[in-house]
Amino acid sequence: MMKTIYLDNAATTPLDPLVLDAMLPFLKTDFGNPSSTHSYGRKTKNAIEINRKKIADHINAEPSEIVFTSGGTEADNMALRCAVADLGVKRIITSCIEHHAVGHTAMCLKESCNIQVDFVNLDSKGHVDLNHLNELLKKDIPTIVSLMHANNEIGNLIDLKQVSVICRKYGAYFHSDTVQTLGHYPFDLKDLDIDFITCAAHKFHGPKGVGFLYIKRNTKINQLITGGSQERKQRGGTENLYGIIGLGKAMDLAYLDVNQHQKHVQGLKSYMIEELLKIDPAITFNGDIDPSKSLYTVLNVCFPISEQTSMMLFSLDISGIAASGGSACSSGATTGSHVLAALPKTENCQSIRFSFSRHTTKEEIDFTLEKIKELTTVSV
Ligand SMILES: Cc1ncc(COP(=O)(O)O)c(C=O)c1O
Repeated sequence: MMKTIYLDNAATTPLDPLVLDAMLPFLKTDFGNPSSTHSYGRKTKNAIEINRKKIADHINAEPSEIVFTSGGTEADNMALRCAVADLGVKRIITSCIEHHAVGHTAMCLKESCNIQVDFVNLDSKGHVDLNHLNELLKKDIPTIVSLMHANNEIGNLIDLKQVSVICRKYGAYFHSDTVQTLGHYPFDLKDLDIDFITCAAHKFHGPKGVGFLYIKRNTKINQLITGGSQERKQRGGTENLYGIIGLGKAMDLAYLDVNQHQKHVQGLKSYMIEELLKIDPAITFNGDIDPSKSLYTVLNVCFPISEQTSMMLFSLDISGIAASGGSACSSGATTGSHVLAALPKTENCQSIRFSFSRHTTKEEIDFTLEKIKELTTVSV
């Protein structure tokens, strides 16, 4: 059988076998509805609350600040839509490189609720211009700022603390899509003055379809999903029991040795950068690659355009290597990556995102580099 290599971990990660083991009893025997008052229900309700506490402890939050959702998209929607509905927000300040869960939601709120949407400028590497954010916030309008912690396509990081201080200076609420960073960096929410952060378990070897919204204790919002009184009346619907158990276990494993995971993966990323430049010094990288300003799991490579590189993603796939494309309409397609389109000079290159996990090995990177070398040096 052909060897396959998975380098698309920013899209999703494989379920850790230990996570599956933790979930299985709740798929087989412990199936009670957590709202039932009999022993079956009490057992599963208890399991959910144990996991809520565990997850809150990992990020130094209170269990009551965690609302389980169907994942990152719902959590982002809840933060923005409820800020408008319940907090009197009249303006969203965001960036044009946010995930669509934020970008499209902001534009929907503009259409349906007449909310003003302002975009903060980006610099040439795709970083948010904090001076411009300051300027925008000087206008006295009830505002929520929504800026992602790490960009899922190019990996650029923002300094959450710095942005939270700016938001507070002007009395604005602050939401950050932390889907790519929860489980990958330590969080201390008692130290960080932020109203909302979001989580998706499938980005750190947990199951798909489950995540949470962190809501700071004094920031009071109502349900987005109306229905029953689950989640302390913050989200209607029978809980995704085994998903929540999986999320809790995935977080335990992610934070067991997060610094070592970071060191290992950053080592692979730096190695890949060095080796790519040996293959072709004309290769560049989309976004910032400075380890202090860049998500260690993501490397977005810009190959100079040629007959071979324009087929690179497909050729890698044929070789068993899964990575992700994302071109700013370079091949004449009508839709491209809105993130790459916001960066300068991406038209003459073929962009490929390689994204890693703690399970990625140096052998896999070497195999991938070998294939890239073959593909870029084949004569036409
Ligand atoms: C930055 C970011 N936000 C939100 C999401 C959406 O999360 P989910 O797939 O759990 O809805 C993703 C996943 O692709 C993401 O990368």
